[in-house]
Amino acid sequence: MALTRRPLAVALLAATAALAASARARAGGDATGPAPAAPAAAPSDGPPAPEPVAWRDGRLVVPKGLPSPWVPPSNPATDAKIALGRRLFVDRRLSRDGTKSCADCHEPRLGLGDGRRTAVGVRGQVGPRNVPTLWNVATYPALFWDGRAVSLEAQAEGPLLAPTELDMTEALLVERVAADAGYGPAFVAAFGSATVTLRRVAHALASFERTLLAGDAPFDRWWFHGEEAAVTPAARRGYELFRTKAACAGCHPVHAAEAPFSDFEFHATGTVVEGSPDLGRFAVTGREEDRGRFRTPSLRNVALTGPWFHDGSAATLAEVVEHYDVGGKAAAGRTPEISPLRLSATEKADLVAFLEALSSPVAVEAARAAPSAPAPEGAR
Ligand code: HEC
Ligand code: HEC
Repeated sequence: MALTRRPLAVALLAATAALAASARARAGGDATGPAPAAPAAAPSDGPPAPEPVAWRDGRLVVPKGLPSPWVPPSNPATDAKIALGRRLFVDRRLSRDGTKSCADCHEPRLGLGDGRRTAVGVRGQVGPRNVPTLWNVATYPALFWDGRAVSLEAQAEGPLLAPTELDMTEALLVERVAADAGYGPAFVAAFGSATVTLRRVAHALASFERTLLAGDAPFDRWWFHGEEAAVTPAARRGYELFRTKAACAGCHPVHAAEAPFSDFEFHATGTVVEGSPDLGRFAVTGREEDRGRFRTPSLRNVALTGPWFHDGSAATLAEVVEHYDVGGKAAAGRTPEISPLRLSATEKADLVAFLEALSSPVAVEAARAAPSAPAPEGAR
């Protein structure tokens, strides 16, 4: 894993630049124009941040059945860093025009997604991809639909600098954050001095994101805790199909000690047809065989985070199951593992019931309790 880090980081820059350039061309705008003055919007104007649910008494508590997050030795978590990251997460001044925070696209109310087909960034720009959930993101070895970031620290810089998302520069970010006197003591507490850098912002955001572990779903209570009544008979039949006839578990695996529901590999599952502008994993590796391949998403909390697939093309879980039942779209390079399943109507409903049993009470409660925030003028 460590060996692949350097080439991936280089490829990441290339991939981000390519995506950014094409997004800029599509939006017809020039993102490098003069920066507007720091917007006055208070950090509390947008959607709320989720609670750092897995952080208790100074340590991460990993629910049974979830893989353990990897914490880089260069960024150990502390109360202060997590609190700072949580504050930055909701601060709309982290976007060029002050209209978007991380929480605007990763809303607790919407399973830490945004409920849209594809993301909408600053100046109403429609991005190319669906917003993935941040629940359990700390347990993933590769981030983004194409796996172009390998750590949350590296990842956090992506949306901050992406023209279609928050569209910042490091200089502007430092200026904005440093201008708020309230951040001074928070940086001192987290990093020992008040100096603001992109790296520190990314480290704080990453530490906060690692606390967003949502487990103990009905499936976990049944599978790992032996609570027979935790899931419905339909969900149990659905799991049987998932492992056997429907052959989902090969890519969305359940292991003896943990159930990541992703192999974190890249597959072409027939979600894109030839000529699609989204090249998937190809944009990172440049290898022909990676065209149209995307990272297998975890299915944990999947019922909360529609619409589904990298392009938000499936509006319901029933549509997702239908996609697999017909064997996806015919496209060159589609993996032979995806082929027609010929499921009955009851079997399809059972698979959906199983997917619905993967919602954590933590994520469900966060969605239920969070208010929907009014967006500022012109932001949506
Ligand atoms: C404009 C909407 C938008 C904003 C604002 C935004 N994100 Fe995202 N986020 C996305 C989209 C879209 C993706 C998937 C992009 C891709 O795969 O190419 C994503 C992916 C991620 C991922 C990877 C998830 C995974 O499953 O691999 C993380 C982590 C993340 N965002 C954190 C953040 C943080 C932290 C912020 C604030 C600094 C932020 N996001 C702001 C839209 C947004
Ligand atoms: C060959 C590997 C593979 C198999 C087999 C497979 N999946 Fe997937 N699954 C993926 C990949 C890769 C994606 C992302 C595709 C995309 O977005 O373009 C995905 C996406 C999904 C999503 C959408 C998740 C989200 O957050 O948008 C669901 C739900 C899902 N799969 C369920 C299933 C079910 C149910 C089965 C069995 C009928 C199955 N998968 C079989 C690899 C696979």
